[in-house]
Amino acid sequence: MITQIFFFVIVLIYAAFAFYWVQAFFKGAPYYPSNKKIVKKMIKAMELDGKSKVAELGAGDGRIAFAISKTGAHVTAIEINPFFVLLMKLKNIFHKNKIKAIRANVLDHDYSQYNAVTIYLYPGLMHQLEDSLFTQMKKGSVIVSNTFRFKKHEPERVIENRVVIYRVN
Ligand SMILES: C[S@@+](CC[C@H](N)C(=O)[O-])C[C@H]1O[C@@H](n2cnc3c(N)ncnc32)[C@H](O)[C@@H]1O
Repeated sequence: MITQIFFFVIVLIYAAFAFYWVQAFFKGAPYYPSNKKIVKKMIKAMELDGKSKVAELGAGDGRIAFAISKTGAHVTAIEINPFFVLLMKLKNIFHKNKIKAIRANVLDHDYSQYNAVTIYLYPGLMHQLEDSLFTQMKKGSVIVSNTFRFKKHEPERVIENRVVIYRVN
């Protein structure tokens, strides 16, 4: 009986947020989490400290955002799917409010306050974001992408063909 109730609740949650899963798919990328090894490499590549302000674009369950917060950096996790925003806010309670989780379309956000950005979104959305990120972020800021690349800018460095690092000049 308990298994059935549990299963029913899961189905209900999926159904309630179905629209947002579909929306995320068409707006840029479905949910597909980065693996732990890649996350470690992305974070190391950013060389963060307590003064760093990082935006995690399309944050999903917040795994990158929470991992970044361990470096002492300030993290804003931006996610379009309210299910994941809720999940991050709940996780945040246990992490003593280490991150700021907001529900927004990454295309509508202002990036001028950040000196680092992490991103794991499809190339179509990366292209749409490229100009805003490179014009709004200050010189010397770092953008680290899992796998996918921008169209107009060359990476400063690529690690194992997966971690693509850009510097704003
Ligand atoms: C490939 S997953 C990456 C999740 C997480 N960043 C990671 O690496 O584990 C992409 C995430 O971006 C979100 N997303 C897709 N389009 C978006 C948009 N336009 N604005 C904000 N989030 C978006 C999806 O809901 C999904 O959670």
